[in-house]
Parts: sequence; structure tokens; C-alpha cells
Amino acid sequence: MTARGVTKAFGGVRALDSVDFEADWGEVHALLGENGAGKTTLCNILAGIYRADSGDIAVGGARRELRNPAQAIEAGIGMVHQHFRLVEPMTVAENIHLGWPETPGVVTQRALIDRTRRFMDEIGLHVDPTAKIWQLSVGEQQRVEILRVLARGARVLILDEPTAVLTAPEAEDLFKVMRSLAAAGLTVIFISHKLNEVLEVSDRLTVLRNGVREITRPSAGATAQELARLMTGEERELEVEHRVVTGEASLDLRGVSARNDRGIGALHEVDLTVRAGEIMGIAGVSGNGQTELAEVICSLRPAQSGSITLNGTDITDFSVRAIANMGVGHIPEDRIGVGMVLSAPVKDNAVLHNYWTGEFSRGVSLDRARVISFAKRLVELARVQTRSVFAAAGQLSGGNQQRLVARREALVGDRALVAAHPTRGLDVNAAQEVRATILEKRDHGCAVLMISDDLDEIMLMSDRIAVMYEGRVMGVFDAADADRERIGLLMGGHEPALAAAP
Ligand SMILES: Nc1ncnc2c1ncn2[C@@H]1O[C@H](COP(=O)(O)OP(=O)(O)OP(=O)(O)O)[C@@H](O)[C@H]1O
Ligand SMILES: [Mg+2]
Repeated sequence: MTARGVTKAFGGVRALDSVDFEADWGEVHALLGENGAGKTTLCNILAGIYRADSGDIAVGGARRELRNPAQAIEAGIGMVHQHFRLVEPMTVAENIHLGWPETPGVVTQRALIDRTRRFMDEIGLHVDPTAKIWQLSVGEQQRVEILRVLARGARVLILDEPTAVLTAPEAEDLFKVMRSLAAAGLTVIFISHKLNEVLEVSDRLTVLRNGVREITRPSAGATAQELARLMTGEERELEVEHRVVTGEASLDLRGVSARNDRGIGALHEVDLTVRAGEIMGIAGVSGNGQTELAEVICSLRPAQSGSITLNGTDITDFSVRAIANMGVGHIPEDRIGVGMVLSAPVKDNAVLHNYWTGEFSRGVSLDRARVISFAKRLVELARVQTRSVFAAAGQLSGGNQQRLVARREALVGDRALVAAHPTRGLDVNAAQEVRATILEKRDHGCAVLMISDDLDEIMLMSDRIAVMYEGRVMGVFDAADADRERIGLLMGGHEPALAAAP
């Protein structure tokens, strides 16, 4: 696959400036760059979702018109987006067959399932074909997306930040699949901000910077530092000093239980204390109750039992708004569903959680001038790249949306900040900036609860670490005696004492 001189502007913003990009058959090719560098835009053009203003794209030496996704698929290019586009109430087999040109007009469920099984065997990727999409884990849904694209005959598979939502073992499985597809002669293009995994899985890599290709090179021999420098020009250092905080609890959970979306118990009698001025890191493999923990604190999910207090006030049954008014910020895991309104302008998203406070309201209406000046300040502070604060939030790149939400919530949270995967989707420097902001909040006396499935990040940032497994807190450690191996065992549900015994 070869792209020559691809240029694309949105309004006045040039997202891609005469980019040349080529990926060979049989290779895994990583696409890197800062938030807003143009990675998704380039892939969307290859997948026929956006049309380039100028430039040529050839597949297997033949020039192709890519005016829409159907033409891209015809040319053998298929893309798996970061936000899946599966039909939730339908089964895996039905989703894979939707729009598959070879799907017979009249087909029984039995035949559909058999075909799906055969296809899965052929590719070496398996998911229960009879399961409904909503019943699957994120990693399994991603497999269905990949199968769906491959079933349409894609020979060039594009994955936009596929590992952002995966657990470490799921990511390892995905890498095996990517390698085996490349071994079978396909081209796999993938976007990632995680430089270590890029070096692990890709044959070659291309760095985009401000819409321009910086370099294409073999991955072997490259280092993470070098890549970070190519992407951003400079590297931001972060110094973290761990603190031992004593004193009263700021955020306090006693015997809190909650159910997940399927009505199954997800949190069981959780006791957890976060003091003012400390970062309590929650370590755990995703899906062990961390999401529910964050949601129950912020009232996005009811507690079945137990109580949550903030500086002595029982906030268990407070509304979402009342909790934000008490000075609790929430960087949600699902920034698109919970954190932002994509169709609304950046300025309105900037005040999404505090538009009702005195600062912005004038009687029943909003003080427009204040909202705009606040939004401008926030955009500058968070270094959100946007044409203007009047642009729709949906036009921001994924990482720029995350920057906006993370900083906004850090401003809302004076007393407590619940940060779920705060650096997910951020480039190296933006991640450091958000971490620095969280540390600053801590130093100003905010109680921070930070969830991440990146154990390195948890170890780096936390003053204390709580390990969660199957909805329970397995242990709480001071940063000073947090032992990586022990925490790893607890994350897998093993009691270290037992695991160590012969
Ligand atoms: N639909 C759109 N309308 C207006 N501007 C857009 C649109 N899509 C992308 N852009 C702009 O194009 C630029 C490149 O965005 P793109 O999404 O390609 O970045 P990215 O490299 O994928 O970043 P990230 O790592 O944050 O996902 C950004 O400035 C973005 O705001
Ligand atoms: Mg992107």
C-alpha cells in the first residue's frame, strides 16, 4: 500500500501536508505521533472515510479511488476504529456476516454459525459465534471487529489505538494475531502511543509530526527515547516524590457494594480510605470492579450497600451534580459517553460540569463571556489543539478530547479527584502533563483516587496502592513497601503467602 502526497485540511487546519506513506505486504507498520499529528486522519483517508484534498493511493501497485468505505474495502483496505461499530443486540455470527458479500440471501442461524466457525479457524481468531455483542469483553469485541473486516476481504488491516482499551494479556494476544496476519502476507498498520509495544510488535514505523512525515524506519534498533524525541522535539521529565500522609480520611468508603451493568455484583464490601494530599492508586486487571468503584463514588452508579463520605459528609445518595459541587472531579474512563458532548462546541464542554455554579450563571442563563474566557484558558492550559473554542468537540483528535476532560476535572476537583485511566490515549508529553497536574492537585491537598491498568503508572504516581481483584480490595500498601511482584500476584487473585509455598 502506497500513499503519495496526501494532503487534508479541515477548515483552516491542515491535518496532513503532502504525506508519503508506504507499508509493505507481510509487515506490521506502526504509526506514531503526538495527539493531533494526523494519524487517525491518514487512516480514515486510507479507509475511505475521509477524502484527501490531494494525493494518490495505490494498493498492490494499482491506483485506487477511495471515495467511501465500500471502495476502500474493494481495494482491500479495512479499518478497526477505536470505538467499535458493532450491533450490540446481535450475535457474533450475525455481526461478522452483516454486509459480507458472500453471505447467502437466505441463511439459517445454524449455517451462519458454522460459516463463522470455519472462518475463525482459518484466521486463527476465536470468539463464541453465538454470543451477543453486549455479553463480550472489550477484547473479544475487538476480535469480532477484526474478523468482520477480514471477512470482507481486507488485505490491509488498519487498527487505530487497538491496545488503549485492552488488558496486558489481551494486548499480547492481539500482537500474536497481528504477527500471524503479517506472516500470512497481509499488511497490518497500527496506531499506538505506547512506545514499548511499538518496538515489540512492529517491523517498521512511521512518525507523523504536525501533519508531516518525520521518518519511516525499521523498528529494530530504535529506542523509546529516540521515538519520543522524533514525535515531539523535546521530552518532558517528571519527578515524583512519594508522600506518607496521616490524618483524617477525606474520601472514605465503608462496606460499599455495587452491581455492574448486567446486574451482577461487581464491588463487594469495599473499605477504602483516601486522605487529603495523597494519591491512592488502584492496581488491578481491568474488569475487576475499578470502573464500578469510580462510578459509585461519583454517583453514576448506585451503591447497593455501604456508605461513602467526603470530609465527614455522607455523599452516598448525592446526585452527580451535588457531588461535583462538593469539589469532586471525575476523569471518566469513557470520555465520549460520560465526559463530553461531542456535538457541542469546545466552550460548552469546558464548563460541562460546573455550568450551574455562580461563576458561569447569571440567573437562569449562562454568562457567555465568562464561559468563553474560561474555555480559552482551559484550552491553553491543557494545550488542546483546536481551531477555536466554537468548534465541535467531536472535531478534536482523540487525545485532545482527553486533555480537555482531564484538565477540566482537575479544576473541578478541589477536594477529591477520581481519575480513571487519566493518560489513556495521550501522547508521551501530554501524559506527563496530566500526571504533573494530578501531582499538583495532591500537593494542594486534594484526595486523589487514580485507576490505571498500567502498573508502571500506578507505581510511579501512587503514595499508597490498593489492589483490586474480583470486586474486592486485596491489600493496601505504602509506596515504600509496594513490591511489584507481590502486587502482580494479588492482581491475579493469588495470596502471595500461598503462592510462595511449595
Ligand atoms: N472531522 C474533523 N473536523 C475538523 N478537524 C478535524 C477533524 N478530524 C480531525 N481534525 C483535526 O485534524 C488534526 C489531526 O487529527 P487526528 O485525529 O488525525 O490526530 P491523531 O494523530 O489521531 O491524534 P490522537 O493521538 O489525539 O488521536 C487535529 O488538529 C484535529 O483537530
Ligand atoms: Mg487519533
